[in-house]
Amino acid sequence: TADPLVLFMPSGKRGRFPLGTSVLDAARQLGVYVESVCGGRATCGRCQVSVQEGHFAKHGITSADDHLSPVGPKEERYDRVRGLPDGRRLSCSAQILGDLVIDVPQDTVINAQVVRKAADARVFDRNPAVRMCYVEVEEPDMEKPLGDLDRLLAALATEWQFEDVEVDFHLMPQVQSILRKGEWKVTAAIHKDRDDDRPRLIALYPGLKNEAYGIACDIGSTTIAMHLSSLLSGRTVASAGTSNPQIRFGEDLMSRVSYVMMNPDGREAMTIAVRDALNGLIDKVCEQGSVARTDILDSVFVGNPIMHHLFLGIDPTELGGAPFALAVSGAVKLKSQDIGLPMNEGTRTYVLPCIAGHVGADAAAATLSEGPHRQEEMMLMVDIGTNAEIVLGNASRVVAASSPTGPAFEGAEISSGQRAAPGAIERVRIDPLTLEPRFRIIGVEPWSDEPGFAEEAASIGITGICGSGIIEVIAEMFLAGIISEDGVVEGSLAERSSRILENGRTFSYLLHDGSPRITITQNDVRAIQLAKAALYAGVKLLMDKQGVNHVDRIGLAGAFGTFIDPKYALVLGLVPDCDLAKVKAVGNAAGTGARMCLLNRGYRREIEETVRRIDKIETALEPKFQEHFVAAMALPNKVDSFPNLAQ
Ligand code: FES
Repeated sequence: TADPLVLFMPSGKRGRFPLGTSVLDAARQLGVYVESVCGGRATCGRCQVSVQEGHFAKHGITSADDHLSPVGPKEERYDRVRGLPDGRRLSCSAQILGDLVIDVPQDTVINAQVVRKAADARVFDRNPAVRMCYVEVEEPDMEKPLGDLDRLLAALATEWQFEDVEVDFHLMPQVQSILRKGEWKVTAAIHKDRDDDRPRLIALYPGLKNEAYGIACDIGSTTIAMHLSSLLSGRTVASAGTSNPQIRFGEDLMSRVSYVMMNPDGREAMTIAVRDALNGLIDKVCEQGSVARTDILDSVFVGNPIMHHLFLGIDPTELGGAPFALAVSGAVKLKSQDIGLPMNEGTRTYVLPCIAGHVGADAAAATLSEGPHRQEEMMLMVDIGTNAEIVLGNASRVVAASSPTGPAFEGAEISSGQRAAPGAIERVRIDPLTLEPRFRIIGVEPWSDEPGFAEEAASIGITGICGSGIIEVIAEMFLAGIISEDGVVEGSLAERSSRILENGRTFSYLLHDGSPRITITQNDVRAIQLAKAALYAGVKLLMDKQGVNHVDRIGLAGAFGTFIDPKYALVLGLVPDCDLAKVKAVGNAAGTGARMCLLNRGYRREIEETVRRIDKIETALEPKFQEHFVAAMALPNKVDSFPNLAQ
C-alpha cells in the first residue's frame, strides 16, 4: 500500500511519507516553514501543529488523531513543564502513522497598520533571515585539538546542515566563555539573507535561547512607524510611531535637500536627527513588548529616496535635480551598529531597493504588499505626499513614476489648511439646495449638526481643515454647483447664500464662521486643482505606457490615502475612473511590505526582482505630461469620463 498522504494547511502543500516520519521532517521536505529552535529535542515548543480531524474528501484524505503517534515521554515532559495548548502536538516528536491534514498555526498575521478594517489582516508564510539553532557541542579533547569554535561549527553542520558558516568577529573572544557557561549547549543565531549566501553566525547564547526579535520600520518624511515582531512566532508584539524630527530642518522633502545644500553640516544633522528618533522608537517598542534591545537580531527599513539617503548617511543633493541620481538603488545590507543603531552587536539591517530617484523603497514595499505584479488585473497604486509615488501594472508589466503634487494635499498652501490633528475638519457635506455645510472634526464623534457636537468641539476647538477635508469640501462644492467645472467659485450664488463671500475679484465659501474663520478661497481651489492635475497627469502617462485607458483596481496608500473617501477622489478626478468597490485605502502598505521582508526573506528576493523589472518613467521628460495636466485641471476632467460616478 502507498505511504500515508500528508497535507499541510494553510499552504496546501502535500506529499507521501514513510510511516514513522516526524511531522517536522515531512514539513521540511515539502518546504513548509515550521519553526524549530531545539532541533527536534522537544524542548523549545516552537514546532507546534495540530491535526485537522475528519474527512477531507476533496483532498482524498481521512485525517484522524490516531494517524499520529501517541504522545511519547519527551513530549509528555514538555507538556508537563511548559504546557501544550489543547489539540497541539510537537511536530518534531509526532510521527506520521496514517493520512493527515496538519494545521500549521499562523501567528504571522499582519494587520494593515491603520486598523480600520480587521478584514485586512493577512497571513504570510514565514522564513526569516535569522534562525535560532540549538546545538550540543562536543567537549574539548586533548586527543582532538580542534578549537572550541570549530567544534561548534561542526555541530551546526551535522545538526542543522549549515555548512561553511562564517563567524562575526565580535563573537570570537566570547565563544569559549559562552560554551562553558552553557555546558557545551548553546543556541546560535544564524543569518542567511539569500539561499546562496554563506550562513553567518551573528549571536551566540548559552543554553536554549528560545526568542529572537526583529523590527520593521517605515521612515516617512512626516511620520516614522516601527513594529517589533518575534522572528520565531511572527507575532507583532509592539508598534510605535513618532513624528520625523527632520521637520525642523524643512517641512517637505525639497526643503530638506536645500537645507543640506545650504548648510555644511546639514546632512549630518539630519542623519543624526532621524537615527536619534529611531533609537528612541526602538526603546519604546522594546519597553512596550518587554523585549531586551539586545534580543533584536534583524531589522528592515523603507523610506522615500531622500529619507533613505539621509538615514544611511548619504548626501541627497543629487536627488534635488535632474537626472535625480540615487547613490544606490539596490537593496542595502549592513550591520545595524554601522548606522548608529546599536541593538545586538550582530544585528543585521536590510533596506529595500529604491525604484527610481523619486520613487523610493517605500513605494517598493507598498508594491510588495499590494502585489500588482502578482495579479492579472491592472492595478494603480498611489502614495500621495508632497510627491506622489505612482505604480501601475499587473503580472506582465509594472511601470512607475512620481508626480510633483506639492504640499496642498497635506494642508499646506491652503488658507485654512493644517495637518491632520484634533480640531481639523476631515469630513464635509454641503446641502445643494441651501448650500449649508455640515462637517466632522478629528477627535469628535458627532457631526456638526448632531447633538453633543458643540460641547465636545468646544474642548478641542475647530482649528482648520486637513487634506481629506479639503478634498471633500471642494468635491462637495462642485457637486452643489458652488464651483464650476473649471474650478471657479460662482459669485452669482452670493445673492442666494451668505456662505458665498466676495473678496475682491474672486469669491470664497464660508465653511465655518467661528474663530478662526474657515473659508475655502478661490486660491485654495486652484491649489488643489494643480495638485490633482499633477497626480492625474502622472497616472495618465503610466496608462499611456501600459496602453490602457482603464484601471481595474486602485490602492490609495499612506495616511492621506487612508482618510480620503474614494468617491470624492473620483469626483475631483484625482485618480481615473474605476469601480468604486475596487478603490481601496491600503493603509501603511509600505510598513506592511517592510514586515513581510522581516518575516520572510523570500519577499526580499521578490521585490528586488520586481524592482529590476519595473519601467521607470520620468514625468518631467514626457512631452504629453503638459497636455494631460491641462485636461486634468477641470473637475473631474476635460477629456476623460467617469462612468462609475454616474451610478
Ligand atoms: Fe523544538 Fe519540536 S523542535 S520542540
